[in-house]
Amino acid sequence: MKHLLSVDDVGGRDGIEEVFRLTDSFVEVSERQIPRVPALRGKTVVWLFYEDSTRTRLSFEQAAKRLSADTMNFSVGTSSVKKGESLRDTVQTIEAMGVDCIVVRHGSAGAPWRVADWVDASVVNAGDGWHEHPTQALLDSYTIRRHLGTVDGTRIAIVGDIKHSRVARSDVLAFSALGADVTLVAPPTLLPPSLDGWPVSVSYDLDAVLPKCEVVYLLRMQRERMTEALIPSLREYTAGYGLTRRRLGLLDESTLVMHPGPMNRGVEIAAEVADLPRSVVIDQVRNGVAVRMAVLFLLLGSGL
Ligand code: CP
Repeated sequence: MKHLLSVDDVGGRDGIEEVFRLTDSFVEVSERQIPRVPALRGKTVVWLFYEDSTRTRLSFEQAAKRLSADTMNFSVGTSSVKKGESLRDTVQTIEAMGVDCIVVRHGSAGAPWRVADWVDASVVNAGDGWHEHPTQALLDSYTIRRHLGTVDGTRIAIVGDIKHSRVARSDVLAFSALGADVTLVAPPTLLPPSLDGWPVSVSYDLDAVLPKCEVVYLLRMQRERMTEALIPSLREYTAGYGLTRRRLGLLDESTLVMHPGPMNRGVEIAAEVADLPRSVVIDQVRNGVAVRMAVLFLLLGSGL
């Protein structure tokens, strides 16, 4: 694998299982007293984030450091992007300094594919517009496997703002490649205009879906991406699609609650529900470091 732009680049079920096997070994590394291996010594990884991030950016940085890679931080807000430098000139300038991997987050769908065309370095898509977020899908799948033993056959409900969600697109690709039974639950206005080719069921009735699912995956209401009034109000959204304390009673006791973060507590998830033991949001973040170690190792490690 030269680049990780889409979940499809990983190579279906076999490729994802290989990521999981590597992740298992990097979880073990992460639990050591000195959680560091020399696997990527001499390699350089740079972050190119045109959108804000806490989890993805920091966990890639932690992953690269645990593999002994050198890292270069690039902050769009204090860079020559502010003077109008283009994306192409920016990435070619950074590459000229000698980098092996560029981790890109950009508001425009497809931007990481353009970057991959312009440079020789490996490129990782850390989220492009509404399109894809492949490492989030890998860490989500890994978290389900850790808790339930397998993703195959697991009944997963993805709930909320599907229309604007790159996480939902990548999760559907990964979960279905691994054999999960995926249901999207949202008001019609928060679904994409067409779901042709999506291997999913659709429901508008969260109360009917919750008793049947083994994982309920809540999406953040992406208010920054909404340019039109797609819901009457956040209060009505919560009444119809929020995982409230009342709805918790509809779930089996073993059902996992997941969220990619950042959470809007009190909107898509009640504050007290987010803090229950069955909520594995913090595990998702923890697993994200080891999954991203596996991804960087797959992209850069074989050349050692
Ligand atoms: N889940 C996720 O991508 O979070 P960040 O925006 O904080 O990276």
